[in-house]
Amino acid sequence: MATIEDFISAIPKAELHVHVEGTLEPELKFALAERNNLELPYTTAEEMRTAYDFDDLPSFLSQYYEGMSVLLSEEDFYELAMAYFSRVAGQNVVYVEMFFDPQAHTSRGIELGTVINGIHRARVDAQERYGIRVQLIMCFLRDMSAESAAETLEQAKPYRDWLIGVGLDSDEKGNPPVKFREVFSDARAQGYRLTMHCDVDQEDSVTHIWQCLNEIGVDRIDHGVNALEDEKLREEIKQRDLGLTVCPISNSYVTDGTKSEAIKAMLKEGMCVTVNSDDPAYFPGYMTENLIRVQHEAELGVDDVTQLVRNAFEASWLNDTDRAEYLDQIESFVAAG
Ligand code: ADE
Ligand code: ZN
Repeated sequence: MATIEDFISAIPKAELHVHVEGTLEPELKFALAERNNLELPYTTAEEMRTAYDFDDLPSFLSQYYEGMSVLLSEEDFYELAMAYFSRVAGQNVVYVEMFFDPQAHTSRGIELGTVINGIHRARVDAQERYGIRVQLIMCFLRDMSAESAAETLEQAKPYRDWLIGVGLDSDEKGNPPVKFREVFSDARAQGYRLTMHCDVDQEDSVTHIWQCLNEIGVDRIDHGVNALEDEKLREEIKQRDLGLTVCPISNSYVTDGTKSEAIKAMLKEGMCVTVNSDDPAYFPGYMTENLIRVQHEAELGVDDVTQLVRNAFEASWLNDTDRAEYLDQIESFVAAG
């Protein structure tokens, strides 16, 4: 293998933290707007990209939700998800656990079935066309009420078999994990896996991570970088073997850097840290770019990079047999040098 960048690009990878709505590239936004007879306040994709202006979570979220206005039909959701799968197929991403935000659409009058059917159809086609295996995670918006989350969980019952887990995203400020204790407990009783965002450098990041562990009983934590600040919390996360889905390029837009050194420190601690893209159309960089960024900034070696990639399969919600198969693929890839 010529360079470490080539190695990163070619190694079979898993992505565990990507919001399908955050993969909406400006070009597709324009195409969907045209099909749906909508006017956008920009004339070119480049103009739209340069107008993106966020330096914290709320400023990102307002543009993220605004962008979704072009998503109306099942076909729109299908094309959105398919565009992501075709792109990451070229990065040898072989397994994806993908978030979607139903309430961001049902609150605009779009049926839940429209959203799920479109993404599910893309998921089936991604397996067939690109050999990418996909599982779906339905996220509740934490800046909406717990009742609305419960309603969404109820509405999703007909689609239960298509969903592997539930998550929690959107604006964290004043919206702690415990606000959703009951709905997550109901989701657990229905057999869903559980994860929650604990975004980087938020007001109560460490408290929120503790709540995820002690009050919710999550199976994984999205972001969770601030766990490093609390030795007991670090130990508890290790003890429970909880995966952390860190998103370096995303971090660089919502706080003061990628946290690459923190990722390296977590690796050295033996924590199950993974690297992901989050919202790659807004925080530019898919899986390969995120891994390369961390490798460069933290001067990671091939073994460290391989461990990050392995961790993603370890932290995934695959069954043990399938997980072992993917891990074997990685070992064969590394052995082939
Ligand atoms: N929704 C999409 N991306 C998100 C993020 N990084 N944090 C919280 N909510 C989100
Ligand atoms: Zn996220």
